[in-house]
Amino acid sequence: MSIAEKFATMEYGPAPEDSKEATAWLERHAYRFQHFIGGKWQPPAAGEYFDTVDPSNGEKLASVAQGSAADVDAAVKAARAASRGWRALTPHARARYLYAIARLSQKHSRLLSVLETMDNGKPIRESRDIDIPLVVRHFYHHAGWAQLLDQEFPEYVPCGVVGQIIPWNFPLLMLAWKIAPALATGNTVVLKPAEFTPLTALAFAGICQEAGLPAGVVNIVTGDGSTGEALVKHPDVDKIAFTGSTEVGRAIRAATASSHKRLSLELGGKSPFIVFEDADLDSTVEGLVDGIWFNQGQVCCAGSRLLMQESIAEALIAKIQERMSTLRIGAPLDKAIDIGAIVAKVQLDRIRKLVDQGVADGATCWQPQVTLPARGFYYPPTLLSNVHPTSIVAQQEIFGPVLATMTFRTPAEAVELANNTVYGLAACVWSESINVALHVAAQLKAGVVWVNCTNLFDASCGFGGYRESGYGREGGREGLLEYMEPAWFKNAPALPAEPTLPAEKQDSTMERRAPSPVQDDDEEKDAEAGRGSPALHQSSPDIDRTVKLYIGGKQARPDSGYSMEVRAADGRLLGEAPLGNRKDIRNAVEAARKAASWAKATAHNRAQVLYYIAENLSQRRKEIAHRLAAVVGEKQAASEVDLSIERIFSYAAWADKFDGSVHNPPFRNVAMAMNEPIGTVGVICPRLSIRRIAPSRGGKHSNRRSFGSLSADHRRSLPAFRHQRSTRRRAEYCDRIHLAASEDASRTRRC
Ligand code: NAI
Repeated sequence: MSIAEKFATMEYGPAPEDSKEATAWLERHAYRFQHFIGGKWQPPAAGEYFDTVDPSNGEKLASVAQGSAADVDAAVKAARAASRGWRALTPHARARYLYAIARLSQKHSRLLSVLETMDNGKPIRESRDIDIPLVVRHFYHHAGWAQLLDQEFPEYVPCGVVGQIIPWNFPLLMLAWKIAPALATGNTVVLKPAEFTPLTALAFAGICQEAGLPAGVVNIVTGDGSTGEALVKHPDVDKIAFTGSTEVGRAIRAATASSHKRLSLELGGKSPFIVFEDADLDSTVEGLVDGIWFNQGQVCCAGSRLLMQESIAEALIAKIQERMSTLRIGAPLDKAIDIGAIVAKVQLDRIRKLVDQGVADGATCWQPQVTLPARGFYYPPTLLSNVHPTSIVAQQEIFGPVLATMTFRTPAEAVELANNTVYGLAACVWSESINVALHVAAQLKAGVVWVNCTNLFDASCGFGGYRESGYGREGGREGLLEYMEPAWFKNAPALPAEPTLPAEKQDSTMERRAPSPVQDDDEEKDAEAGRGSPALHQSSPDIDRTVKLYIGGKQARPDSGYSMEVRAADGRLLGEAPLGNRKDIRNAVEAARKAASWAKATAHNRAQVLYYIAENLSQRRKEIAHRLAAVVGEKQAASEVDLSIERIFSYAAWADKFDGSVHNPPFRNVAMAMNEPIGTVGVICPRLSIRRIAPSRGGKHSNRRSFGSLSADHRRSLPAFRHQRSTRRRAEYCDRIHLAASEDASRTRRC
């Protein structure tokens, strides 16, 4: 036998990582874990426990406390009690704690990686070389942010008590993504780990104790979905941060919509992995191994849809199959294993069911010849070809080692296929042509687009999605902003109750309309010059007119034909406004979406248009102030128009200065973080805004929700704007306002 033949037939021997340390840790806790509340281990109020299982063999690892509403309440109280002291610390003191956590996580990295692999089933190579080093990096990076907080975010305050709910696919890494920025910005935390993988979070509680973190700053309550639900609904939580399924994300959004709670959601994905004919196919195949077989495909941003240019599809499939045949599946603690166990039986069943449905939809299923371990939850790497873009396996997140492939001919077709999803978390583009790669990347609707690489994460780079992949960013500067609020925003007084009109004014369908307070400029000039026909004016009634909506650049009659009354603060009828219905909204949204080229206009162009609007407003200043005066009084009307002009100038000024940034993560890449428009924004102004700022009511007013019109708070923000020192800080300030506008719009819609 030649050396080459011998080499080809050699097998790997077993190379298991030593689990002694992790077993000793479990023994020390008598295989039974309580909640970590107020710096102490506390038994569950209802006395209930559940089992956490090693997915590589199905054996029980430990009993873990099942959290009830009473446990969540105790944890929130502990977090609230610790809040004042924690935020009163100097940034440097908080930085020291985060630094200690980073150091201790590094020191205990072997325990943490083995424990993670035992509880989750992921290969030790991944927990040891990816998950835990990224956890450590996250705490170091945020120790830095904690140190710089006052300098970099001088006018921000922490949200307060933060409820965090994390999934099972990256248990400790998701904990780090959530806890590090929350602590760095002065919040206190109640975290609920996933029921399948609670152990490393509990080991982390031990690290907090070892670091001497003040009691109550981090609280960990274990349990299932009902525990998460209790945390979401707790009235004394200021913010919820969630990572998990889109379905639960939706339920959380509905549950928090009518509350004051801030929310960030990192949900599922069906990310496209686009390969052009000029790509380096060998690198692409290695990228795919990372893209879809990393962590058994249980990755929110997994490149689960392979889109190949038709000309290279056959060659690429052959290479992929060859590589799949070399992937080693088995006991995850073995250092030579590529694919470990699926987290739980229920997840394994879900994967099987979805693949069966895909095959029933017409897909061809290919799996390498592999022998799966007899015990535990394993699924072989799987390639589905002939997948129709509407098939369930092309549309739904499988969260398993399953790749669905499709082909395209042109870049335009690739973009269309890639964006044909309800998700928008991540995407990959593979091409040796920088022109093709950047041209396509810019058109993909995804929070992250990797070019010739995949699944690269770093604490300095924001991560998050669009559409049903959620909103909010984790990591970097943008991630910090999710845990803070501008001080003025946080302290703004609540909206006053809606004043009711006197009864006699409420039913006024037949009330005579007040003479229009406004005269057209021409009319005014005619009157001044003594022209026109006074006789005709005196003898004929005003021409009755249909008040109209403004949609798609034109006047449009409201679909219902109805209008509504506009009244002054004292109930006087001032005029009418069209009453839009569902159809009008649909037409308006359609028109807004059709005008999407606005987003592609150059920043200079957008600035120019805004300046023109300010010019026009300035020209019609007198007329508009006159109209407004009927509602808010002359003094306020004039200043409101002037401030509007000033504000439009501000945004025109920012239009071509709101740059992104280039991050410099530790690996040999750069990450360009670019600002993109949210898309079509719905702005809903409260009916009260006009009355609330009416002079008849006097005093100072807050209008937290009406960012669509110039509101009292908006004006109050102007001085803060001027005093912002760095350009970037101003940009964040603008961004925050945009986000608030869109979030509030959606919230109001739900109320
Ligand atoms: P899940 O969304 O039910 O669980 C994630 C976390 O949310 C867990 O801690 C869970 O206890 C908690 N939770 C469940 N119901 C809740 C509720 N009503 N209120 C508050 N918290 C609640 O995810 P699951 O069932 O474990 O996995 C189902 C599917 O979700 C997977 O097949 C995958 O497609 C997707 N998923 C996506 C993840 C991501 O990173 N985007 C992570 C985990 C799952």
